[in-house]
Amino acid sequence: MKLAALIGSVRKDSFNRKIADFIGERYQSDFTLEKLGIQELPYFDQDQETDPPESVRTFKQKVKDADAILIVTPEYNHSVPGILKNAIDWVSRIDLVMAGKPVLMIGASPGFLGTVRCQLHLKQILAAPGVSALVLPGNEVFIGEVHKKMDDTGKITDEGTVEFLDGVMKNFKTFIESK
Ligand SMILES: Cc1cc2nc3c(=O)[nH]c(=O)nc-3n(C[C@H](O)[C@H](O)[C@H](O)COP(=O)(O)O)c2cc1C
Repeated sequence: MKLAALIGSVRKDSFNRKIADFIGERYQSDFTLEKLGIQELPYFDQDQETDPPESVRTFKQKVKDADAILIVTPEYNHSVPGILKNAIDWVSRIDLVMAGKPVLMIGASPGFLGTVRCQLHLKQILAAPGVSALVLPGNEVFIGEVHKKMDDTGKITDEGTVEFLDGVMKNFKTFIESK
């Protein structure tokens, strides 16, 4: 199954990107994961939405071709990082490539709440008419105190977190297959 990953951080040592990489490696027998370069997208411009730049075209095509979308993102100021919102704004127009697409949201933060507030907003955004993504129900992944759960190589060392992820990814696979 083809997973397209949207990562809400461009930071060199991003915990969230490391989690996406961990997922890509650990579940490679079920999924191939491609991280889409949302940092290369220009700011959304409604004047360009019918004839967007090449980077946007490529991005939308990759979203369209994917069986499902994995979003791994930090929380910025109690909400969704701008880079991620910008990418979602592009896909919300004209050809609506996210509509009906299965989505799994994951978030990690050094803080205790692990992106709860970001994901509440994100869920609302993904339910907007132009987006209409299908978020995996009943499986919320908030990885709080992430700095204590990962080693320097990006391996998740906290067994409870890995076991939980194993279950979620299994549920996500079943969910994708049911669509
Ligand atoms: C602009 C900014 C706003 C932030 N706001 C929050 C926040 O609202 N909640 C939170 O838990 N952490 C917040 N943080 C801390 C991030 O969780 C932390 O920097 C995290 O490591 C970012 O994710 P990354 O490692 O994937 O880059 C914020 C960080 C920045 C730079």
